[in-house]
Amino acid sequence: MSATVYLETIGCQMNVADSERADVRLRAAGFDFSESPATADVVIFNTCSVRERAAHKVFTRIGEVRRQRLGNEPVVGVMGCVAQLEGSTIFDASPSVNLVAGTRATDRLPQLISRALNGERRVIDLDERAEGEMWDVPATARTSKYVAFVPIIEGCNKFCTYCIVPFSRGREKSRLASDIIAEANELRHHGYREIHLIGQNVNSYRPRTEAGLEGFKGATPFCRLLRAVAATGMERIKFTTSFPRDFHPDIVTAIEEHENLCEWIHLPVQSGSDRVLRAMRRGHTTADYLKRIETVRKARRRMSITSDIIVGFPGETTQDFRETVTLVEQVGYDGLYLFKYSERRGTPAAKLPDDVSREEKSARFIELETAQRRLQEKIYDSYVGRTLHVLAERMSSKSESDLTGHSTCHKVVNFPGNQSWLGQVVQVRISAAKQNSLYGEVMS
Ligand code: 5AD
Ligand code: SF4
Repeated sequence: MSATVYLETIGCQMNVADSERADVRLRAAGFDFSESPATADVVIFNTCSVRERAAHKVFTRIGEVRRQRLGNEPVVGVMGCVAQLEGSTIFDASPSVNLVAGTRATDRLPQLISRALNGERRVIDLDERAEGEMWDVPATARTSKYVAFVPIIEGCNKFCTYCIVPFSRGREKSRLASDIIAEANELRHHGYREIHLIGQNVNSYRPRTEAGLEGFKGATPFCRLLRAVAATGMERIKFTTSFPRDFHPDIVTAIEEHENLCEWIHLPVQSGSDRVLRAMRRGHTTADYLKRIETVRKARRRMSITSDIIVGFPGETTQDFRETVTLVEQVGYDGLYLFKYSERRGTPAAKLPDDVSREEKSARFIELETAQRRLQEKIYDSYVGRTLHVLAERMSSKSESDLTGHSTCHKVVNFPGNQSWLGQVVQVRISAAKQNSLYGEVMS
């Protein structure tokens, strides 16, 4: 009888993509999947370490599974970022764990799990990816039937001082454009309507060779890739995350040229204070950033812009924070992901005193959140009366008669409709703006 695996994903889209890859490798090796950790022979957590709370989550989950499975303990595995960073110390911290697989061990999971099932107590693999490893995931193994995440670059060379990613994911490694294009074509043939080209910093995409990019123009390899992927005819193409210093204006030109390149840019700024940006070693000032924003705003298509901001970085004064609020007001973001600074061991910023008190971080977080909510309300209101192209992704969890999906500008849009529309792109005329979503009716 083959063993069953339960795989739970914590963290970002890159982890979702890795779990999909793991799923394919394991099925090919004869494993079955289970929907519940209560019955599976093997329970694996794909982990995130970007902030302390996410990193702790895996240990809470392991505790819950252990209590549930007393007397009938499964093989417990930790994969992903926490595995890569903590390595064998996980075995001591959590004795029920038998398997630790780093961020680049996905392809070897079947063998690693088999060893653990055969009784080996501490199976560990923190090695690099094998040369020639397959990145692609067949459409049939995807989390969604309509939207697919396609990794184009892994790792990060930026070393922003607060960030653990360069340590957990290693140096940048770009995938060949020819493979990415082949995957986009395959997804299209399987009925996928939207793909997201993903990476920690997609703008620094730099493959070993230009295979697949011949004949496509563009100021950087990423700009050439955008045009090459647009040429596959995939209906909607989004990409994330962009890094301000590497964000070339030609990206905006490519979006202007190709209807299927969606009008949404996620361009994290992290702070509106030049002093803090320097301490974060971001390599850009607020003026540089605003110049990029201006380029995006000047586009012929109305673009949506979102960002990430950290409040309470070591040494952030009230004045620094005020400058962040000012920048947020100046840009007028369509959406903002806010984070309280979380010290990550091993990063350069961890050597600085984490001197903004917990209360102060919370106060700044709430103030910025409130300011953003007010600004966002105006932006969302401005969509009322407009018609958006929305991909019907699933039934709404709030109402049985509503569907939910995203617009090309990456807004969540809810609308009345029936199940048969799932997977279709519909035109929705917006009638109401909610806090983080829009509501409307399908035009017949
Ligand atoms: N503390 C708080 N937020 C962080 N991020 C990355 N590292 C940290 C940290 N140590 C945030 C950044 C990044 C997003 C993915 O997570 O804003 O853009
Ligand atoms: Fe982290 Fe900076 Fe790299 Fe983004 S660009 S993953 S914040 S080091």
